[in-house]
Amino acid sequence: PRTVYLSRHGQSLYDVEKKIGGNPGITAAGEQYAKWLGKVVPGEVWTTTHHRSPLKDLEDSTDEDEQSCSGRPLFGRLFPCVDLRTGTTSPKPIQPARLWTSTLKRTIDTARHIPHPVLELRDGGVWHQMSPRVYRNLDEIFAGDCEGLTYEEIERTHGDEARLRKRDKLGYRYPRGESYLDLIARLDPLMHELESYKEPLLVVSHQATLRVLYSYLVGGERRDAPKVEIPLHTLIKITWDGWRSIREERIAME
Ligand code: F6P
Repeated sequence: PRTVYLSRHGQSLYDVEKKIGGNPGITAAGEQYAKWLGKVVPGEVWTTTHHRSPLKDLEDSTDEDEQSCSGRPLFGRLFPCVDLRTGTTSPKPIQPARLWTSTLKRTIDTARHIPHPVLELRDGGVWHQMSPRVYRNLDEIFAGDCEGLTYEEIERTHGDEARLRKRDKLGYRYPRGESYLDLIARLDPLMHELESYKEPLLVVSHQATLRVLYSYLVGGERRDAPKVEIPLHTLIKITWDGWRSIREERIAME
């Protein structure tokens, strides 16, 4: 796509306790962010100007194509999208966008208020269903034996591990867990998938995974990825026209 939006989950119980990993829910402040995202996203993401008109597909399509949206007729050329949940045709052309979360509770809860009709749209002669996707590959870095500990506890109980990680954060692998290099490998298929999209995409994920995705999108150095600033309660918008001109905007919850 030309535009990718990245967001961490809203504040979690573990963020407050400074613990890493786990599968905690979000706090009241996290829920506030989820609601904010639910308001900002429809205007920001779903209506982003497309580099190609969704109506263009219909103009190019045959009469037969126009009739074949899930067996429901399309009402003329102006309404290319059908919400499969309600069976209603959108009153105005919808800018389709994609939504991805991890399998962890905190990202799913954060995306909960984002209105996302299950749309069907025609692309290259095929009708696609665009429902939100939940990917295990987007789960946070797995800290193995250190899951559920604070950084202080790790220094106290796994001193050598803490030292090794400080020395090489990119290559360091938690005991029975993952490294940033492992993350790069497991995010690789998703990076290829997102490159093939034409629609805007919103990814609700985690600090470490988003550092990797962000670095990939802006063409950052691999060794710098583990240090990228990805704050909570901030929507990051990355837009590019080809690989050379990249624009970045950060919209923080007020
Ligand atoms: O602290 C939140 C968190 O998402 C942890 O679950 C994860 O281990 C950590 O951030 C990753 O950041 P870093 O690589 O800087 O420890």
